[in-house]
Amino acid sequence: MKLEGKTAIITGGAGGLGRGIALCLAEEGADIVIADINMEAAHKVADEVKAFGRKALIVMADVTKEENARRLVQETLNAFGKIDILVNNVGAGHAEAHVTEDNLTEEDWNRVYTGGIADLTEGDWDRGYIANLKPGVFMCKAVIPYMRAQKSGKIINISSTAGRRGGGSRLPYSAMKSAVIILTQGVAMQVARDNINVNCICPGIIYTSIHEDMAKIRMRTNPKLKDVKDPRVAFEAILGMIPMRREQTPEDIGRCAVFLASEDARNITGQSINVDGGSIMS
Ligand SMILES: NC(=O)c1ccc[n+]([C@@H]2O[C@H](COP(=O)([O-])OP(=O)(O)OC[C@H]3O[C@@H](n4cnc5c(N)ncnc54)[C@H](O)[C@@H]3O)[C@@H](O)[C@H]2O)c1
Repeated sequence: MKLEGKTAIITGGAGGLGRGIALCLAEEGADIVIADINMEAAHKVADEVKAFGRKALIVMADVTKEENARRLVQETLNAFGKIDILVNNVGAGHAEAHVTEDNLTEEDWNRVYTGGIADLTEGDWDRGYIANLKPGVFMCKAVIPYMRAQKSGKIINISSTAGRRGGGSRLPYSAMKSAVIILTQGVAMQVARDNINVNCICPGIIYTSIHEDMAKIRMRTNPKLKDVKDPRVAFEAILGMIPMRREQTPEDIGRCAVFLASEDARNITGQSINVDGGSIMS
């Protein structure tokens, strides 16, 4: 096992990719801290982690708030005495509904997904920033002093292939995911001498709640999909754009995270790896 005795925090650990990452890390021997705002889903993932014989701690934390990021780090230290791995996985792909008190309408969701620069509101940009950039910034700030003191650590940020190349839709999301890639490089440079590796994974297309919601938006806005009733069918309609002609899975992302968290990747830092079936080849 590559991660025996390690402690890993996974933000958004109860969701689609977060669960996949949590289980892959647990399978390789790591104890897991699931930080999330969805406690019901977090308990299910914790039970699955324990089935591997690992410890699981659940922390209710909205990591878009700095005080919660600090508390999450403290609660992890109280429980495990150290933090070896941090996976900054929280992010949102559509209207950033998780991070707002606003009741977004169908029209808002359509606008954030398809809207041109002139249509997007200040709130759309704020939500994109809060959901996708702030969590990683606050978590790095909270965890790095401890990793520096222990002279080791692995930080893995989850960006997206949307952050690799500008497209015609989801401008706030893709701009903020691009910022995650640059944040990764900057922090990696700052902590390299402390033996802390900071890398990034850019997932492609995985059928989690994000892609289910996006498929529903396409069903409303794309005339070619007007007779489609099942979002899974609308999702499958985009897989032909992938060179390898298949979707990616949470486990694909989890296995890449295991590699980056392991000593196999000890001399890899500041990098962003596409796990996307060849959609972006750079
Ligand atoms: N699904 C994809 O195809 C895809 C592709 C590229 C990148 N990503 C990225 O992967 C990450 C995870 O996406 P996913 O598809 O698993 O989404 P998801 O919606 O299935 O899971 C997100 C999880 O994060 C939790 N969460 C949301 N806001 C939170 C907050 N403020 N504090 C703590 N927890 C919070 C949710 O409760 C949920 O458990 C995101 O950063 C996303 O942008 C996903």
